[in-house]
Amino acid sequence: MKKIAVLLGGSSPEKDISLKTGTAVSQALEENGYVVARINPAEPGWDKRLETFCPDLVFVGLHGPGGEDGTIQGYLQTKGYRHTGSGVQASALAMNKILAQRVLGQAGLPVPRFMTLDREELSRWGYEQTEETILNEIGLPLVVKAPSQGSTIGISFVHNKQDLRGAIDHSFSFEEEILLERFIEGMEITVSVLGNRRPVALPTLEITTTTGVYDYESKYTPGMSDHIIPARLPADVRRHCRALAEKAYRVLGMRGFGRVDMMVGPDHTPYVIEANTIPGMTETSLIPDAARAVGMSFGELVEWICRMALGEEIPEQFRTGDED
Ligand SMILES: Nc1ncnc2c1ncn2[C@@H]1O[C@H](COP(=O)(O)OP(=O)(O)O)[C@@H](O)[C@H]1O
Ligand SMILES: [Mg+2]
Repeated sequence: MKKIAVLLGGSSPEKDISLKTGTAVSQALEENGYVVARINPAEPGWDKRLETFCPDLVFVGLHGPGGEDGTIQGYLQTKGYRHTGSGVQASALAMNKILAQRVLGQAGLPVPRFMTLDREELSRWGYEQTEETILNEIGLPLVVKAPSQGSTIGISFVHNKQDLRGAIDHSFSFEEEILLERFIEGMEITVSVLGNRRPVALPTLEITTTTGVYDYESKYTPGMSDHIIPARLPADVRRHCRALAEKAYRVLGMRGFGRVDMMVGPDHTPYVIEANTIPGMTETSLIPDAARAVGMSFGELVEWICRMALGEEIPEQFRTGDED
C-alpha cells in the first residue's frame, strides 16, 4: 500500500474542521512514507482526480452531513475503493441522533430520557398541548436537537418553560423531525474507540469548558476547553464507561475508529449522548489525545486507522485502560 487519497473539506457546516483534520492526517501519512493526494469533494472534478490517482486506500477526513453519514462511503464502495472508518450503515445510523438513541436504548445502553416530534404532530397538537406533553414526558431542564447536525448546530438548552417554543422552532429550521431529551447535569466525558470486530476503548477523557457548554466556539477556541485524562471519576465508573463505549460502538456497527460522548451525573450514572464515526483528527482533537495516553502518537494513530481499514485488528496492548 503506497498511495492514499485523503478526502477533506466537503460542503457541510463542519468543512473548516474537516480541512484541519485532512491536513493533519495528510501530513502524518506523508511522514509515514505514503504518497498522498488531498481531494476536496466540494470541488468540481474531484471524482476524476480520485480515479486518475487510483489510490490503494481512501482516508475519509470529512465531518458532518455528506461526509460522515454514509453517502460518500456508499459512493466509494460502489466504485470499488477501500476506505477508512465505518461503512454506510453505521455512518447513517450514528449520524441521526434519533435513530441512534432508539437503537442504543433498545440494546440496553443508558440514554437520557427522550422523545421525538415531527412537524405534522406539532401542527396537529398545536404548541400549547405539545409543550405540555414535552414537559410531562421529559421535564426541565431539557435539550432540543436537530438530529443530523454536528458541532452543536441546531441544539438548544431549555431551562425555562418560556424558552421551549423558540428552541423547538430553531431545531425545526434544520430538519422535519426533532429530538427532545433530558438535560443531564454533570460531567462531560468522551471515550475514543479503535477496532473492527474487537473494539478497544481508550482511556476516558473529561472535557471541561469555561462556558459550561461544549459548543463550536469552546471546542475550537484555544483555552476555552480542557482535556483531562483519565476523567476525574472513580476507577470502577471509568471502567464502566469504557465498557459502555465499546458496546455502543459494537451495537451501531462502527469500524476502524470512533468516539462515544457521554454525560455522567453527580451520582456517577453515565448516559450516552451520541457516537461520532469520524471524530476530529487535528493534533489537538480528543481522539489523538486519548491515543497519546496509551503511548500511540498521532502518526501511529493515523497508521492504525489505515491498517484497520484493510482488515487488521487493533492490538490488545492498547487496552491498557485508565484504571490505575
Ligand atoms: N442530554 C444532554 N445533557 C447535557 N448536555 C448535553 C446533552 N446533550 C448534549 N449536551 C451538550 O451539548 C453538546 C453537543 O451535543 P451532541 O449531542 O454531542 O451534538 P453534536 O453533534 O453537536 O456534538 C455536548 O457536547 C454536550 O456538552
Ligand atoms: Mg458531540
